[in-house]
Amino acid sequence: MSELPSSAQSDTLDLLPFADATYQADPYPYYQRVRDLTPVYESPLGVHVIARHADIFNLLRDPRLSSRQLDFGVASIFHDSVLGQDSPDHGRLRKISSSWFTPARVRDWSVMMQAYVDDALDVAAETGSLEVCDDLAFPATFGTMADILGVGKHDAALCRQATLDIGRALRPAATEADVEGANTAFMWYVDYISDLVAHKRAHPGDGLLDTFLEAEATGVMATAEVMATTTLFYAVGHLDNSFMIENGIRLLLDRPAIAQAFVAEPDLREQIIAEILRIDTPEQFVTRYVTEDIDVDGTILPAGAVAILLIGSGNMDERVFAQPDEFDITRPNVTRKHLAFSGGQHGCAGQVLARAQGEVALGSFFSRFPAAHLDGIVEVDNTEFIRGIRRLPVAIR
Ligand code: HEM
Repeated sequence: MSELPSSAQSDTLDLLPFADATYQADPYPYYQRVRDLTPVYESPLGVHVIARHADIFNLLRDPRLSSRQLDFGVASIFHDSVLGQDSPDHGRLRKISSSWFTPARVRDWSVMMQAYVDDALDVAAETGSLEVCDDLAFPATFGTMADILGVGKHDAALCRQATLDIGRALRPAATEADVEGANTAFMWYVDYISDLVAHKRAHPGDGLLDTFLEAEATGVMATAEVMATTTLFYAVGHLDNSFMIENGIRLLLDRPAIAQAFVAEPDLREQIIAEILRIDTPEQFVTRYVTEDIDVDGTILPAGAVAILLIGSGNMDERVFAQPDEFDITRPNVTRKHLAFSGGQHGCAGQVLARAQGEVALGSFFSRFPAAHLDGIVEVDNTEFIRGIRRLPVAIR
């Protein structure tokens, strides 16, 4: 972890300068300052930030926090998905897809994922190199999600760009241009998903989207909910899991002994994946609306506030993870305690799938290419919300 830049040393300054490039590149020293100072930090941008692990853990399970009452702004369509609902509608929507992501079902999806990964690695074996983002992580995760939904993979690059454009607007320091970009992306997605749904109605199959349409036919799901939920799965089906694979490969290329252990000891894989997700958490926070005053460790989180639960900071909280900036695969508590998948009723619905995808991608990559090494500049794409890698060039021998 690097030192805070001297411009952030004064107490009169914004402790979480979300828009600053230095902050976006490495927010962790800033988080530590806030964790040390206060359980609730009111940012000049108007949001209330919670940075300590225990407080985040508790608030994620607190019914006084609402997703339904949050102003999603440009992303208001997501109020018709699980993400934007409170009980009981949240439970109704979540139940419709939950049986698709049980460990037993995920074993089937892992076979699909494996096929995409094998294809990508076969090409790399011939050419001697690969660019991990475009050649492996994105096509494998996007392809698997499309197969689960039971739809084709056309316009994959546009889906990816639209998802990134939406992500840029869902953060405190979003600019007008970001919001405009997200508006365009949502309009594009609405057309795209409408076409998919129309096609599916005419050609039913046995994918997850068919399950949504059956729920619609029996009155369990509204048409707007089908649209929003399908858009949500399109977006989350490849975004954070791609980063997990990319960052996992990057971290293990620097740690050959751990890469070898990942290959040789499958029982360690869950632990290593958890540490990859902890040390640089793909989504740095989740957001909620506060419906009543809540006492957080002696400080009031006021009714009416927008609360940012900084899971990326909770994952670096030294009260829970000793020497948090060390990549340490022997942490006894990381699989149970890391917050990368959020928690409570909105805890990630795809986490079993995501972990399995990480195991398949990293396991195959390092078992086939034990001599792999970086072969160029790594390009990152970070905001205060989403951590991303744009380019990760690797030579395999
Ligand atoms: C490493 C990969 C992933 C990470 C780090 C991740 C992270 C998250 C986080 C932080 C949330 C919580 C949002 C909140 O509390 O408001 C969430 C929710 C969700 N995720 Fe994931 N996710 C990942 C992969 C996936 C995948 C592959 C899928 C698709 C199957 C998925 C589907 C969902 C859904 C549907 C929700 C909404 C759950 C709800 O509101 O009840 N995620 N995810």
